[in-house]
Amino acid sequence: MDFIARDRNRRLQAAAKNPPNEKLNTPKLGGPRLATNAASGTKFFSRESRHILDNRNKELDNIKMIRNRWKILNLVGTGGFGKVYTVDDTHIKETSLRKRMLACKIEPIDQEQSLLAIESTVLKQAKQTKKTRIPLFVDVGKTPQMKYLIMQFLGPSLAQLMRRYKSVSPVSVLEIIKQCTIGISELHELGIVHRDIKPSNFCVGYTDPDRVYIIDFGLCRQFKINGEIRPLKHRDGFKGTSRYVTLDIHGGKVSGPADDVKSLLYMAIEFFGVNLPWAGVKEKKLVYDIKTKYTTKKLLSKVEKKGKVEKIAAKYLNNINNYLEEVKNNEEVNYKFIISQLDMALADSSNGIINLEWVDELSKTAKKNKCYTVDDYSKFEHDSDDFLMDRKVKKKKSIRR
Ligand SMILES: Nc1ncnc2c1ncn2[C@@H]1O[C@H](COP(=O)(O)OP(=O)(O)OP(=O)(O)O)[C@@H](O)[C@H]1O
Ligand SMILES: [Mg+2]
Repeated sequence: MDFIARDRNRRLQAAAKNPPNEKLNTPKLGGPRLATNAASGTKFFSRESRHILDNRNKELDNIKMIRNRWKILNLVGTGGFGKVYTVDDTHIKETSLRKRMLACKIEPIDQEQSLLAIESTVLKQAKQTKKTRIPLFVDVGKTPQMKYLIMQFLGPSLAQLMRRYKSVSPVSVLEIIKQCTIGISELHELGIVHRDIKPSNFCVGYTDPDRVYIIDFGLCRQFKINGEIRPLKHRDGFKGTSRYVTLDIHGGKVSGPADDVKSLLYMAIEFFGVNLPWAGVKEKKLVYDIKTKYTTKKLLSKVEKKGKVEKIAAKYLNNINNYLEEVKNNEEVNYKFIISQLDMALADSSNGIINLEWVDELSKTAKKNKCYTVDDYSKFEHDSDDFLMDRKVKKKKSIRR
């Protein structure tokens, strides 16, 4: 038995001796881990793990500086697995002109599944290949309490923008869907599928709020290695957010590139003001049943009735949907075709004028605040100890899954 297993056994035996109510106060069984709801199949943190997470989060909230360099400023987002803060790079001297802000995603050191390991691998590959719709990688490392990932700071997510700007025009919707498609295509060019396409996983730029970036690569899967499509060996456990995943994923298939774009169509339908009939339904089996009844085609026919531009949009989105139906699970997607359809929809409906509702307001804020620009870090070589080199997670350097 190796020493990790021995140590774990010792802790398990010690924990077994504790009465149940004491167990909650001494949550030492490794880090927080995900459990699966037998009925719905959704992943959740058990009561004990949630308790560990809450304690860890409190500890993490008190940290003000990471490795004598990254000064934590404000919390900007909380996800299922980590928190995102703005940070300041104290190694760069402040000048009145210097813009100062980066994003830092952190997760507790002992979280069972380190999603940051996968995420940083994707960001590094995107930086090497000069992708423009994936946030710029800056640094990755760990401290005794946490793992952290420093990257380009972006503006609000599409989920936040759609809540804040109630009357987003259908032309703007077409434009952002086109931009999301470009983001997804950049990721697929790396041979990686996202598997969690949803509005909170796209952000607009901070200094460039007219551009959409794709974020959150913790659930990614590599579908291509050295230019070769990986054979589909086995069925997959459920990955993603049940509101947006495709029927195939509900059915246990391994996600392919087309699944990401089909999820984007669900996003588009919502952005056009048509409710997804399964929104808010928790039971995964029920979501599956409703999705089978309300096909994308059916939902697009509701979009069509919303107005003139929506009618044009629905026509082209239908073409995209028909095309995607033909793409096999593991096949690549023809982005030229998809983007040409969206361009035609835009040309037919906008006369070339696109005013994203948030651009003026966000540009003003970005000018007032300070933010590092991509140029500051495009040549930055990160120097922290890379936790990917840990013995335990070394394998995660490649993100096969
Ligand atoms: N680089 C960034 N710049 C600015 N805000 C960001 C950045 N990355 C993430 N955020 C914000 O933090 C939120 C959570 O981030 P992210 O989606 O990466 O975390 P997560 O824990 O994987 O989330 P979830 O499990 O809910 O999908 C995002 O929706 C976004 O609002
Ligand atoms: Mg997310």
